[in-house]
Amino acid sequence: MSAKMSEPRDLFLHELGDVLYAERTLVKTLPKLQEEASDEELALGFEEHLDETGQHVKNVELAFEKLGEKPTAEKCPGIEGIKREHDEFLSKESPSQDVLDSFLTGAGARTEHYEIAAYEGLVTMAEAMGETEVVELLTENLEQEKTALEKLKAIGTRLAQNGAKQETHS
Ligand SMILES: [Fe+2]
Ligand SMILES: [Fe+2]
Repeated sequence: MSAKMSEPRDLFLHELGDVLYAERTLVKTLPKLQEEASDEELALGFEEHLDETGQHVKNVELAFEKLGEKPTAEKCPGIEGIKREHDEFLSKESPSQDVLDSFLTGAGARTEHYEIAAYEGLVTMAEAMGETEVVELLTENLEQEKTALEKLKAIGTRLAQNGAKQETHS
């Protein structure tokens, strides 16, 4: 067994590495989600969030550097799990395009909630450590995740209402 972790700063670096892994994973995943989505607003949302996600990676790397540390990603089973749910749903359920759009909206919202929880924890810890610049970098990411979640929720509501209407008319 490795040495026991006892410093809050080490926990912070671990969590920062975890979110770095998640963000890098999302840079690779978002183009796929964009391609899978047929709803225009949803596809555009994924495309725009891909740009932001590239910046999230940079901000997290910068946060490491501000602390005098080399950016080091920590494998994040949480984001891998969300990805696996997506892959398994597609292969097991062969969803129609409408169902797929709704599913992708939910998968996106899950991801944003996950990122929001990560950044809220990190910002709290960075504030306690008195690392103002790191707080600013991570707050920028946090705010964009919150906006992305709100957009996904609005799309999800629209898709659910359209779906319900179609069902009563059929
Ligand atoms: Fe992000
Ligand atoms: Fe995000």
